[in-house]
Parts: sequence; C-alpha cells; structure tokens
Amino acid sequence: MFEHLTPYAGDPILSLVETFNADPRPHKVNLCIGIYFDNDGKMAQPHSVHIAEERVGMGIKNYLPMEGHAGLRAEIPKLLFGTNHPVITENRVSVVQTLGGSGALRLGADFLHTWLSGGKAYVSDPTWDNHRGIFTAAGFEVGDYPYYNPETIGVKFQELCEFAKSQPENTIFLLHPCCHNPTGVDLSREQWDELLDIFVSHKLIPFMDIAYQGFGDDFDQDAYAVRRAADLGLPLLISSSFSKNMSLYGQRTGGLTVVSPSAEEATLVLGQLQLGIRRIYSTPPAQGGLTAYHVLSNETLTAQWKQEVYKMRDRIRAMRQRIYEVLQQKQPEKDFSYFVKQRGMFSYTGLSVVQVHRLRDEFGVYLLDSGRICIAGLNESNVNYVADCLATVFAE
Ligand code: LMR
Repeated sequence: MFEHLTPYAGDPILSLVETFNADPRPHKVNLCIGIYFDNDGKMAQPHSVHIAEERVGMGIKNYLPMEGHAGLRAEIPKLLFGTNHPVITENRVSVVQTLGGSGALRLGADFLHTWLSGGKAYVSDPTWDNHRGIFTAAGFEVGDYPYYNPETIGVKFQELCEFAKSQPENTIFLLHPCCHNPTGVDLSREQWDELLDIFVSHKLIPFMDIAYQGFGDDFDQDAYAVRRAADLGLPLLISSSFSKNMSLYGQRTGGLTVVSPSAEEATLVLGQLQLGIRRIYSTPPAQGGLTAYHVLSNETLTAQWKQEVYKMRDRIRAMRQRIYEVLQQKQPEKDFSYFVKQRGMFSYTGLSVVQVHRLRDEFGVYLLDSGRICIAGLNESNVNYVADCLATVFAE
C-alpha cells in the first residue's frame, strides 16, 4: 500500500542532532542546532521562567480556546511593538498562541495562501532550512531574494532593494528582524527604513520571523523592523517564539500576530486564524503558554527574565570573541572579525561542505553543511578545542 512512497532524506538540522546523539566520542561538540546551552553545556532555563513554571504547577487540564491563552495573547504584542503602540490601542492586531515559531509560520502561510493567493513568497538567500519547506507545504511557489554576500560577509543590500522593487503587489517577503538565521548578518536601521519604504510604495507584504528577540541587541532594538513596519501602516505578519529566550523548546510556545489596517479587518483575521487552528490541532498546549504569560504579566519576573536573556547574549558574545582571538592569532593573514560582528546564536563560517565534514568526521565537531555554527553550543570547556579544529580546517 505504501511501497510507492518516496523515502524522507531527513531534516538537515534535526537529523544531524540524531547523528550527533548517536556519536560515541566523548569529546564531540554539538554546534548544529539553535539551542542555548550554558557554560556547563546544559540546556539552562532562565530562573524567572522556572519560577513561573512552579507557580503554574500542573497547569490547567481543560482545553485552552482555539486562539490560546487570553493573557498571553495580550502580552505578545507588547513585547513586539512596545506597550501602547497604536496598532494595539486601535485593536488592529490579531494574536494567536501557536505551536512555537514554526507553527506560527505555517498558520500564517496557510492564511496568506487562502486569502491572498496568487502572490509568490520569497525567502532570504540563504535562510533557515525549514522556511522554504513550510511555505511550499502551504501551497506557495517559493523563491529566494538576494541577501548574503560572502565576499563582504554582509548584505547584498542594493540587489535586495532592486529585487523588491521588481516584484508585483502582494508579494510576500519572509524577513528576519534580528539575529538572521543562518548567517548572523542583520540589516542596519537605515537599511530597514529604506527597504520598508519600498514595501510601502510597492505594496509588498512583510512576514517577519522573530525567533531570537533579546539575543541581538536588546528586546526593543531587536524589534526595530517590526515596529517600523507597523509605524508605516504596512499589513504585517509576525511569527514569534519563546523557545529560545525562555528555553521553552519542547513546550512549543509561540505566537502569530497579524496587523490589519482596521479593527474590523483584525476581527475577520482572528476568525480565520481560529478556524485554521481548529482544523489542524484544535487548541494549543496550555503549559508553556501559561508559563510565558506568568513571566510577561509580572513586572518583576519580566525584568528578571530580560536580564537573564542579556546574560545569555553576553556569554554568546564572549564565545564569539574567543573564537575570533584564537583564529586571528593562528592565521593573522585572514580577517576573522566577522565572528564578532555577526549577531545572535549563529555564525556563518564560510567553511565548505568538505571542511564541515572533516570537522564532523575527524574531530567530532558538528555544524551544518552550510557552514552555520551555533555559537551558543560553545563553553569554557570546548571553545579552545573547537577554535583549534576550526584553525586546522581553515588552514587547508
Ligand atoms: C535552528 O535553526 O537550529 C533552530 O531553529 C531549531 C530548528 O528547529 O531548526
């Protein structure tokens, strides 16, 4: 009955983690997945989130509403836009609790495909491995927009702007407001201003995926592009996640926020999102949503949580610095400053597939074939070893 099925080749990130887990070498290092590990190599949860989790206890056994926990839904836009932003006070946001950021992406992609069909979707070149798949699964023809420039280790900004200008109305652009995954290379504020002006004049639709808020500069600055797009009155979709900044990975806690031109439209949008949720998984899980709500609705816990995220951010920065210093000292003829300039958890190393495989096979250092390395997997015990291994393969 199922003989004709095509075999699944596996996911470039999640399947690699399985290979890593099965690797018996004690010195192996997991730098392939976007998870924050602490200096002891443990998946640490911010203490504020732990307190919230204890307060929630066993949580509620009843179903949440289709759209998720009402309190959490009220907090998510404050984190994205800042308290009292006009899109909130004018009731122009529709927010639903989702199954992590991925669930928000799929729900949003399904929504757009149903109600704005005809438009094509573009993802950055390169992007997170699952973006293209999610939009393709929702029925979109998916293309790439110019983004990363390996020559400058920056953004092909003029090409990106020209490309945006050449697209028809209602074309969807999946954007990373901060901590670009996989490159760690972000647009500057001036570049966001220029790009989003093009979105206004050419009636393009930004879908912003913000999975790492707090890990770039701070919670407010990381949301600059989101706020700017809202200020400009753009129709806007935002997928957000508490997987990384609250370490609620397995709880699948995120949100989809849609900004509409009017409160009436926002009500219609919410209805369609509820319907979409009901048709796929009915209601979201309660525990993670309740935990995130407890953190965000309590001023003291929120302040503590933000400081804890900034400590995680600073530890990542310190690891970037260490990698940079070792490599620069060993190979002064090359410029490794990109390791410290890139933001968020990831660094695009520029390593070839052959070099990546050598790191994995010979040294037990796991990173993605694209050369993406998760800096948050480094710590005092492994950073020198990894830096030495990188220096060895860079010297090839
Ligand atoms: C990553 O990029 O490694 C994370 O977002 C985890 C995932 O689901 O791929």
